[in-house]
Amino acid sequence: MDKIVSLCKRRGFVYPTSEIYGGLASSYDYGPMGAELLRNIRNLWWETFINNRDDMVGIDTQILLHPTTWIASGHVASFTDPVVEDKKTHKRYRADHLIEEWIGKHPESVEPGFKVENLLVIEMATFIAKNKIKSPEGNEITEPKKFNLLFETKMGVVEGEKSILYLRGETAQGIFTNFKNVLDSSRVKLPFGIGQIGKSFRNEITSGQFIFRTLELEQAEIEYFFDPDTTEWKNLMNKWKDDMWKFVTDTLGIDKSKLRFRQHTDKERSHYSRDTYDLDFEFPFGWKELWGIAYRTDYDLKQHMKHSGMSLEYVDSVSGKKFIPHVIEPAVGINRIFLMILADGYREDGNRIYLALKPSLAPYTVAVFPLIANKENVVSKAREIYHKLKKQGIKTNWDARGNIGKRYFAQDEVGTPWCVTIDYQSLEDETVTVRERDTATQQRIKISNLSAYFQKRLKE
Ligand code: GAP
Repeated sequence: MDKIVSLCKRRGFVYPTSEIYGGLASSYDYGPMGAELLRNIRNLWWETFINNRDDMVGIDTQILLHPTTWIASGHVASFTDPVVEDKKTHKRYRADHLIEEWIGKHPESVEPGFKVENLLVIEMATFIAKNKIKSPEGNEITEPKKFNLLFETKMGVVEGEKSILYLRGETAQGIFTNFKNVLDSSRVKLPFGIGQIGKSFRNEITSGQFIFRTLELEQAEIEYFFDPDTTEWKNLMNKWKDDMWKFVTDTLGIDKSKLRFRQHTDKERSHYSRDTYDLDFEFPFGWKELWGIAYRTDYDLKQHMKHSGMSLEYVDSVSGKKFIPHVIEPAVGINRIFLMILADGYREDGNRIYLALKPSLAPYTVAVFPLIANKENVVSKAREIYHKLKKQGIKTNWDARGNIGKRYFAQDEVGTPWCVTIDYQSLEDETVTVRERDTATQQRIKISNLSAYFQKRLKE
């Protein structure tokens, strides 16, 4: 993990937020390479789940919603984590995380199959007391208490008259509250889904897992609505699980052996869910949730009907049947996908470090170098090729600094799949060398064939 964090900083993927002021807990900014990778992930998700399907539409809703939304959704009452406080330093920690760490060091002290997720807060208190679990600083800790994750903010300018709002804790609620608008304004028919990508905020208590769990996060969520009388929810859930798996393995190219589905236990499930699975990835710090899928039933639409007084029922245009649709929800964090891609792609080959990213994910597809940076005719030929590739929509980088080895090294570290070098021979026979990132092998290709070659390889 340290190597990935260091690469991220060194090559402009991720920086600590507000670093010049000492940083801000669990908050990160994305640099030039990181911004490109994020965009590629978002675009692939949107293309796969919205544009390439006939049963999906996308929307884009606000971060600030009417505060009743969060009362109706149950987040004000139930969106909590169990938290303890170090009695000396007053630092806060997730009780379940401290217990997990302790069990990691004392695996013999629990029965096989023991799961922290199954403990109620009161049972966590007993476990901590019985095993005298301390804070990471070695101090006594308080009893665990439920801590609400919703981020409060205030609307209005006059002190004393400001009203409390919440930064959204999930993008899902903007979808539920617009269900009727989408029905009335587009030609959707059940079963269909609404997806959106956007920022959510959670007052997370975290313990240094880089961008895995942050205060501000980007979610890509789908609410897939269906009639439970005509669509079997278990089958639908299995279909969505297959689609999630295919996206991660085929589209993102992630190693299957580092992925698994895990069903939530009854005690672990969110208040709105009848069944939940996590698609877990084996991160450098262990198996953790990448993507969740939940059967939310008609819970949310019913709650919003109750609190708004508006009908959110669906009327079948053929049978005239009026009912509240049920929902399957696949929900993933773009930043977690980002971390998974870096963790899965990180390679060391002797002194060489490279990111084995799928070409469609790499911040740059191609880098163009003039072999000799001070030979005008070589540089201008290289510039010509660089501009031509860019014009043809290929993400191309230019580098004429330092020796060629260093330039390859820099491109390897940001995962650029191909480097094109222009030399004296290029001026004579209109060919260039194309170097492959993963094997470091080179071949000569005709300049006129370059664009078609990269377009074809991008589809691999
Ligand atoms: N609407 C359902 C929902 O929000 P969730 O499991 O809490 O469910 C969905 O979140 C996904 O969002 C997770 O699978 C994870 O990828 C991502 N996520 C959740 N909290 C996060 C955080 N604090 N930092 C980064 N990603 C997070």
